Amino acid sequence: MGIEYKSEFKQFHLSTNQTSYLLQVVGDGHLVHGYWGKRIHTPLLPNFTDLVEVCSFSPNPEEDNLAVSFDVMPREYPDYGRSDYQSPAIDVTLASGHRIIAPVYESHIIVDGKPEIEGLPSSYVLEASEASTLIITLRDQMTDMVIDLHYTVFNQYDAMTRHVVVRNEGSESIKLNKVLSTNVDFYQDHDFELMNLYGAWARERHISRIPIGRSSHVVDSKRGASSHEQNPFIALVRPDTTEDYGEVYAMNMVYSGSFTSEVSVNCYGGTRMQMGINPIDFSWQLEPGKEIPSPEVVMVYASEGLGQMSRIYHKLYRERLMKGHWQSKERPILINNWEATYFDFDEETIKSIIRESATLGMELFVLDDGWFGDRNSDKAGLGDWIVNMEKLPNGLQGLAKEANDLGMKFGLWFEPEMVNPDSDLYRKHPDWCLHVPGRFRSPARNQLILDLSRIEVQDYLIEAMGQILSSTNIEYVKWDMNRNMTEVGSAIIEGSRQLEVTHRYMLGLYRILETITSTYPNILFESCSGGGGRFDPAILHYMPQTWTSDDTDSYERLKIQWGTSMVYPPVAMAAHVSEVPNHQVHRITPLETRAHVAMAANFGFELNVAKMAVEDQRAVKDMIDRYKMVRRTVQYGDFYRLKSPYDGNGSSWMLKSEDDKQIIVYYYRHLAEPNNMEAKLKLKHLDPEAMYELEDGRVMHGDTMMHFGIRLPFMAGDFASTMIVMNRIG
Ligand code: DGJ
Repeated sequence: MGIEYKSEFKQFHLSTNQTSYLLQVVGDGHLVHGYWGKRIHTPLLPNFTDLVEVCSFSPNPEEDNLAVSFDVMPREYPDYGRSDYQSPAIDVTLASGHRIIAPVYESHIIVDGKPEIEGLPSSYVLEASEASTLIITLRDQMTDMVIDLHYTVFNQYDAMTRHVVVRNEGSESIKLNKVLSTNVDFYQDHDFELMNLYGAWARERHISRIPIGRSSHVVDSKRGASSHEQNPFIALVRPDTTEDYGEVYAMNMVYSGSFTSEVSVNCYGGTRMQMGINPIDFSWQLEPGKEIPSPEVVMVYASEGLGQMSRIYHKLYRERLMKGHWQSKERPILINNWEATYFDFDEETIKSIIRESATLGMELFVLDDGWFGDRNSDKAGLGDWIVNMEKLPNGLQGLAKEANDLGMKFGLWFEPEMVNPDSDLYRKHPDWCLHVPGRFRSPARNQLILDLSRIEVQDYLIEAMGQILSSTNIEYVKWDMNRNMTEVGSAIIEGSRQLEVTHRYMLGLYRILETITSTYPNILFESCSGGGGRFDPAILHYMPQTWTSDDTDSYERLKIQWGTSMVYPPVAMAAHVSEVPNHQVHRITPLETRAHVAMAANFGFELNVAKMAVEDQRAVKDMIDRYKMVRRTVQYGDFYRLKSPYDGNGSSWMLKSEDDKQIIVYYYRHLAEPNNMEAKLKLKHLDPEAMYELEDGRVMHGDTMMHFGIRLPFMAGDFASTMIVMNRIG
């Protein structure tokens, strides 16, 4: 495991437990991609400088060598305009007005550990021995523009990360139009399907899977956010790949802004797969002596299907992406007042919810939107982070004390990045929002976006939030963000740099998050963007859980949580039991099913428990007790998808504790059918020889439950569900 360099062949072999990644320097210093896949002994790669018959439509960038053409060579970090006609990874405009650069291998170093990426979130190591990093330097001799390609392989996680740093060591300014983070050229291989997670508000991360054919595909966001519509994740899978079988090549970007990923097949049947910041929302004027890093992409190869890919991402993200006090701690069962009250609350309503939820065993009360400024609807107040004492005469202190006295934590909602035109902040600083002079400022939910590329705006937010967070015992923050960017521009940046604003915004956001989360290290931060509009690894780095979706309907949530689990672990997914009829789709589902869906993730509630019927309150208390019994396994165990909500009339998933002792199975039957026997369910990844005891006293062998299956209990009515807990007894 690690990184090996064979100087006689100028060949690099990066390996983890189960994967190999090969690179080679050929010809006049061209860096070619050799292989990515199941771990192999280092082969002799094909002679990439002698690949094609001479063809006048594949031009030759090397003097006197008509066999070399970038049109056919599998390239590691392709530039544009020198015989490579696919999408480049880098595109620049030089001071001369030309775009041609010819980066060639100059040197490399291999270091233990994983250096941080300046200003950007990334996965990390605790000890240098956990990973090795290769940095290959490419130089364009004419301009002295340098590209450092960074590769880290983790020893324990079967994952690798890539990003680049572009440096200007020349004497003239260079405009970067496109700087992707990663590019993989699969040589003569296009036997793939493309998988991605698409959606919309309240319908996030559904699964799409299509054959790539011999064409190009783009999965991207141009919204200034990683987005509800497309997650920054793609995977190339073999046509026969399933949950438990087959090859998967996946990329997930540690970035919260506009991204692009592209898959294209060239005329020789090779596939290019790439990911990085979306060039439509990016440009960077790189002055002499300066450098800029790209965000990181986490790349996972799995030979045993999508389930294995997910478990690799889950473990890495739990252990080496999330950080801080709560990274590996059991997360509290919370209750949030949003769907219970919306903006219509007073101190007594909130206190009644706190009192009842404490009786039922909940551990954290979260006061959502509406506690500050003139925020009595979504029309005003964002930006004015001052407690509304008319609504809350005893301030936040009064509520925090009420919760703390009853043994609960107190948490608070913010939407720091936004401003309502109807706010004191906007009246004082109308130029503090993203805007283009003379153009209409398109509102969304009556709000505009603060210009986080400006340091004074960043400092204002750090100060304003800090005052509230220090004012009383706040132990949780929900960080919301409820619109996408339009008319991007900044009032203070020069004209030639206006296209830098979207990325500068992200850098500003990360600075604020880094400052606030390290100033208040014990606060549990949960991110939200109208639900899961910014469910990405960059945000998870700072805030180790995300409100998965504004859609709390249990049936809809099956699809959303199934898709989300492709990349993100259950502990990252906040899931609440809400009222029926459901506020988003008006469906009525049983309380037990709503709980079983939420209990497969980071469990919480979002309804007025003080107004519930007594028997429902009793049921809620039982569910909470039950969740406490399985919480560690749900939040930190291994996750197995058993039955997809996308096909058939039932869905199921299973969790296995870190010590392999506790197994939890959830089964959700969608619609009741007449005259139909309950299905058997086959479990996965149990120890075939071990005995497991179910709660009803049945004792079964692992192999029996995996190959014969377990009988499910009778479930009456639509949207019924069951939760089965078992313990390994020998
Ligand atoms: C959108 C979030 O997704 C909701 O949970 C809630 O916090 C509202 N914003 C409040 O405005």
